[in-house]
Amino acid sequence: EKAGFEHFMIKEIHEQPKAVADTLNSVLHDGVIDLSDVGLSEEEIKNISQIYIVACGSAYHVGMAAQYVLEDLARIPVRVELASEFRYRKPLLDKNGLAIIISQSGETADSLAALREAKSKGVRTLGIVNVIGSSIAREADNVFYTLAGPEISVATTKAYSTQLIASYLLAIQFAKVREEITQEQYDGLIAELQTLPEKIQKIIDDKERLQWFAAKQVNAKDIFFIGRGIDYAISMEGSLKMKEISYIHSEAYAAGELKHGTISLIEDGTLVIGCLTQPALYEKTVSNMVECKSRGAYLMGLTTYGNYNIEDTADFVTYIPKTDPHFATSLAVIPLQLMGYYVSVAKGLDVDKPRNLAKSVTVE
Ligand code: BG6
Repeated sequence: EKAGFEHFMIKEIHEQPKAVADTLNSVLHDGVIDLSDVGLSEEEIKNISQIYIVACGSAYHVGMAAQYVLEDLARIPVRVELASEFRYRKPLLDKNGLAIIISQSGETADSLAALREAKSKGVRTLGIVNVIGSSIAREADNVFYTLAGPEISVATTKAYSTQLIASYLLAIQFAKVREEITQEQYDGLIAELQTLPEKIQKIIDDKERLQWFAAKQVNAKDIFFIGRGIDYAISMEGSLKMKEISYIHSEAYAAGELKHGTISLIEDGTLVIGCLTQPALYEKTVSNMVECKSRGAYLMGLTTYGNYNIEDTADFVTYIPKTDPHFATSLAVIPLQLMGYYVSVAKGLDVDKPRNLAKSVTVE
C-alpha cells in the first residue's frame, strides 16, 4: 500500500500536487470560488467582526500562515491560538466572530473542546477537516473539507498542504465579498492558486540535491529556522517537521527576535535555515543571517528563483518557483518536509511512527 515508496511520508509528500488540486477543484468552478457546500452566506461573511483560528500542531502552523493571508486580503482581524490554551483561558469572544478550527483527523481532543467553547459563547464555528463525519465535522456549524485522502504518516504533509489551500480560498472569498479586492485581483489570485500543484511537483522532482544536503546533517545538535511574517510561519512548520521525525533539536525563531536571546546558542557550524519568500522582508532576514554567520553559523537559504544574491551569504541554497507571496508557504514547506524526511531516513529512524507520537490525539 506504500505504492513502491519506502515510507508513507514520502508517498504522501508525492501526493501533494493531487491533494492540492483536488481541494482547489472542490470549490473552484469556472474560476469562481463557490462555498455553497461550506454554507457561509455572503451576509454572514460581511458580518464577521473577528476570526479566531484554533488548532494543534501543524494545523496550528497553518493558522499562523493563514492569519497573514486573511488579514492582508480580507482585512479582518485574526487571532491564532493553540487549542489547548484557548479552551482554558476563558476567551472573550465577539458574538459576530468566526471560530475556525483546523484539524486533519477532526478528533483532536483539545481542538474539539475549543470548538465547543466557541459554540457555548454563541460564536459561529467553521471546521477545516479532512476526515468526513469526524467529531469536529459533525459539531461545527460549517465544514470545509480538505481532500487530502487518508494520511498514514504521523508527521503530516498532504493534509497540511490542503489546509493551507482551504484557508487561502476562504481569505480570497472573504476579501471579494467584503470588497477588499478588485475583480482583477481576485482573478489573478485564483489563476495563481491553480499553478500551485505543478510548482509543488517541480520542487518534488528536484529533491536529489536536498537529499544529499540532508544526509550531511545527521550529526547536527541544533538547527534553527528563521524568518519574518509568513516566513516565520513556514519556519515553525519546518522546525516541527525536522524535530519530530529526526530527533534533532530545532527551533523556529522570528528572525528579528534572535538577538534577544537565541543568538547566544549559535556555535561554530550550527545550521541556520533562513526562509526568504517575502520580498518586502528579504533584506531584513538576510541581515539576520549575516549576524548568525559572524557567530559561526552554517547557513542554508530557502528562497525564490531569481534571488541569486543570497549565494553571497548562504552556504547552501534551495530555490522554489515564484508565486504570489501570500501563497509562498505552500511551496516553501515542500523542501522543509523533504529535509526532515531525508535526515530521519539517513539516521535510520522510524519515519512514519516517531517515538512517543500518535497520529491523532484524542486525550488531552
Ligand atoms: C499531532 C499530529 O499529534 O496532532 C500532528 O502528530 C497534527 O501531525 C496534530 O498536526 C493535530 O492533529 P489534527 O488531526 O487535529 O490535525
